[in-house]
Amino acid sequence: MMHMHKYEKIWLFFGIGSLFVFLAVLGVGAFAQGTQPPSCLTTIDPEKVDQTPPFDKPGLVKTGDNEYQLNIVASAFAYTPNQVEIPKGAKVTINVATKDVIHGFEMAGTNVNMMVEPGYVSSYTQTFDKVGEYVILCNEYCGAGHHLMTAKVKVVE
Ligand code: CUA
Repeated sequence: MMHMHKYEKIWLFFGIGSLFVFLAVLGVGAFAQGTQPPSCLTTIDPEKVDQTPPFDKPGLVKTGDNEYQLNIVASAFAYTPNQVEIPKGAKVTINVATKDVIHGFEMAGTNVNMMVEPGYVSSYTQTFDKVGEYVILCNEYCGAGHHLMTAKVKVVE
């Protein structure tokens, strides 16, 4: 075996050490990017959105006392349904799934702002305390009709 100088050993140690740190960072980074954003924990087959509950019957569903689920299908270039009435004070879990490309789901004037990716259900829970109208917009460029992709939520007494 070749005799190694003490400093060479130290440098070799640091070299291998930093290589491991580099790989670890790379691995963690790739893992973080490879997994879905926190709002998209449920997966769905984008080709079968129309047959997969609850998106086979999109719309507002009452799930409890003043609690609702609002299931919306996004596709180029529309939301289904595109007109929804919600009773004032309702706590609504909004679930959105796309049948084709990536769409956005931004509800102007609220904290609801989701990216809707094929293969995942994007969810957000929002309580609607004020009567009014909210416009839903697609804020991810999705093609020629992107700017036409809107829907409306009315909060009523
Ligand atoms: Cu859908 Cu832009």
